[in-house]
Amino acid sequence: MGPSAPRPATGLTSQLRAATRGTHDHVDGAFPEGLDSPTAYVRYLQAILPLAQWLHHAWQPDWEALTCWHAPARPQQLRADLARMGAAPGAFQSSGGAISAAEWLGASYVMEGSAMGARLLARDLDRLQAAHPHVADARSFIDSHLADPRRWGRFRQVLDALPEADAVAALRGARRGFGLVEHQLDAMEAPA
Ligand code: HEM
Repeated sequence: MGPSAPRPATGLTSQLRAATRGTHDHVDGAFPEGLDSPTAYVRYLQAILPLAQWLHHAWQPDWEALTCWHAPARPQQLRADLARMGAAPGAFQSSGGAISAAEWLGASYVMEGSAMGARLLARDLDRLQAAHPHVADARSFIDSHLADPRRWGRFRQVLDALPEADAVAALRGARRGFGLVEHQLDAMEAPA
């Protein structure tokens, strides 16, 4: 059935969560003590940057209905935060090629959903900056990511309302998006 005959309420968010649970557990496991050191925070920023870059590059201006989910400032915020932490962006592969709006939304699920974990991690930063004051000047990404607590609920509604025909592309986007984060973490050596 084509996009002209959409079926309502796919509940895609839970499908994407189930499909990426193992990857999330792996990513979560790369921060066993949360953001308890400047090094851990740098790894976190470096892990998210490839996903932010991909979302930025793959965005197409004619996806007008999705404009509010496009956050063009994110890659630059991440790079600026890394620079303030005295770190480089890190080398990463770009995930090139044009993608559909549904695949882009699936990848955006990874970014938007990460705000939930980020809420906990921001509390780690509150503690970390007592000992490392420069951390307070390196929070532009995470603070703007968390600025609107209702954003995730609105995003879920958009995802859950996608027609069934878009589910496969959205799942692919979520797997690729999470894969970028995971790959970046695996490529960086975790501190002993
Ligand atoms: C670094 C990259 C990370 C990414 C891309 C990411 C992504 C996500 C996504 C997509 C969700 C939404 C799941 C859903 O409800 O559908 C989520 C939820 C969550 N994440 Fe992460 N996450 C990351 C790191 C972390 C870390 C390090 C922690 C450890 C504190 C964490 C803790 C959580 C928690 C507690 C939730 C909420 C789970 C729930 O309430 O069901 N995340 N994350």
